[in-house]
Amino acid sequence: MSQKIIIDTDPGIDDTIAIMTALRSPELEVLGLTSIFGNATTEITTQNALRLVELEGHDSIPVARGCDVPLVMELESIASDVHGRDGMGNTNLPAPKGKTIDKSAVEFIIDTVHACPGEVTLIPVGPLTNIAVALKTDPSIANLIKKIVLMGGAVSVPGNISPVAEANIYHDAHAADIVMQASCPVVMVGLDVTEQVIMTPQFFDELFKAGNPATNLIRRILPVYQDYHDRFLGMGGSIHTHDPSAIAYLINPDLFTTKSVPVFVETERRCKGKTTADWHHQWEKRVETEVCLEVNSSGVLDLIKERLTK
Ligand code: BDR
Ligand code: CA
Repeated sequence: MSQKIIIDTDPGIDDTIAIMTALRSPELEVLGLTSIFGNATTEITTQNALRLVELEGHDSIPVARGCDVPLVMELESIASDVHGRDGMGNTNLPAPKGKTIDKSAVEFIIDTVHACPGEVTLIPVGPLTNIAVALKTDPSIANLIKKIVLMGGAVSVPGNISPVAEANIYHDAHAADIVMQASCPVVMVGLDVTEQVIMTPQFFDELFKAGNPATNLIRRILPVYQDYHDRFLGMGGSIHTHDPSAIAYLINPDLFTTKSVPVFVETERRCKGKTTADWHHQWEKRVETEVCLEVNSSGVLDLIKERLTK
């Protein structure tokens, strides 16, 4: 039986690869996309989410617009140098034909979880505001959500948006700290593993040979993301595989090694967004997060390539 999922997303170049992989995976039933700020404003990422469900005829999948600003802190400047001003590598794609549903992302998450108790997995691959607001608005959903598999954080490696913080957690650290205390199972697919999974120019050459709508779109939007990885990290055309790794985890968790540990999120000043694993249980008691620490990177890459090229 396929897993029912909601992808909470800020598309976003790697979000696009993740969503395309999910939509092409029979193990997953995508119940909806919910949008969030991060790689661009919520206005822009919502339009991109609509474009993505339309690309290969999945336009019956609802798209619900998410929160515009973080829970407590100010919205920080959007990283247009990473994903482009339009979140899609400055490609100025045509406007989507469809519209968002009438419900907000938070309402959609709450209603869907109640409609399928114990069956829905949330996949946040952007800042965690929608998920935190949903948990605050209706705390009863925490016991009805099957699992949250989030892309974000780093416990054993440096950050990417700051020396200590990963971008999704940084953009709404208060929301992330709420999610790390949720009573449902939470899996963290963070930089500890996503930076070990590297898509190289050779990987993309093989991917692009498929010439289908998904790979053609990825080919178009990718250069800005490659440039960022090259400027910032000297990766010469390769990129880290952030959001698609969360999808790979869902399809085949055996590709990952995890450890259960309480995770705390800093919300102030220079350490804002830092995720700390309390390995020795020295801080106050908190539910544990399943943190991914090792990954079979060729297994993840093969899986993604197989889905995107078939
Ligand atoms: C995360 O930040 C965004 O730029 C990516 O889409 C990914 O979700 C990686 O830190
Ligand atoms: Ca993302």
